[in-house]
Amino acid sequence: MIAVLFKKKETTIDRSKRILPQHIGIIMDGNGRWAKKRGLPRQAGHQAGASNFRKITRYCTTLGIKSLTVYAFSTENWKRPKEEIDALMDLFYDYLQDALVNFREENVRTTFIGDTSIFSEKIQALMQEAVDLSADKTGMRLNIAVNYGGRDEIVKAIKEISAEVAAGTLQESDITPELVSTHLYTAGQPDPDLIIRPSGEYRTSNFLLWQSAYAEYVFMDDILWPDFSTENLEEALDEYSRRNRRFGGV
Ligand code: IPE
Ligand code: IPE
Ligand code: MG
Repeated sequence: MIAVLFKKKETTIDRSKRILPQHIGIIMDGNGRWAKKRGLPRQAGHQAGASNFRKITRYCTTLGIKSLTVYAFSTENWKRPKEEIDALMDLFYDYLQDALVNFREENVRTTFIGDTSIFSEKIQALMQEAVDLSADKTGMRLNIAVNYGGRDEIVKAIKEISAEVAAGTLQESDITPELVSTHLYTAGQPDPDLIIRPSGEYRTSNFLLWQSAYAEYVFMDDILWPDFSTENLEEALDEYSRRNRRFGGV
């Protein structure tokens, strides 16, 4: 992965002619710094980040984006102080309750990627309800990555595949990249075309490691997630449309 730093370009893009990505990934980073800048507790940043997540998700649906995957909580985020984790779990709970009441009308199919078995029974039940309730929606696919880690996901795939080989239901020669993909949380979904990370960190932090093999990265260093606007998203889409995707060809 080569970090390509996003700088606002001089060339203007005709937005009506842009090729839009089918699948966008967003690493929603910078909540803590946003709060610190304002002298607020980190939790306030997460609150602001959660409300921005709702705004940007809605905007993606109006653009006709087919899939959106947002990184909300990583397998490494458990290292944070208990107070912050508790606040994040409360926010997640509130989001789920709110989504079940207010998002019924929206044509968005919600799924969760990551090892969700770690969450409280209450949260798991709400997640299941959100998945079931939106299962037949035909609009945008929204993947919320919670307790998600790319390495964890690949290990899960390796375990499932090796169990099948041990049981004799799969031959070693059947193991292909396509087969591995079917054992990921995103099985059956297209890979992300564009991954956006605000906040000035130029790394993946374990997000969609396998799926991002040919994703275009846009790292935006002068914006923190709670301030990430629809215009920032448009700028990332402008940048995406300037890229020449070769997939190893010429
Ligand atoms: C992203 O914001 C949200 C989560 C990782 C849960 P951060 O909390 O990482 O914010 P910074 O990076 O400390 O500013
Ligand atoms: C990545 O952000 C995870 C999420 C945004 C959910 P982090 O803030 O956890 O990543 P690092 O620690 O800066 O790499
Ligand atoms: Mg961070």
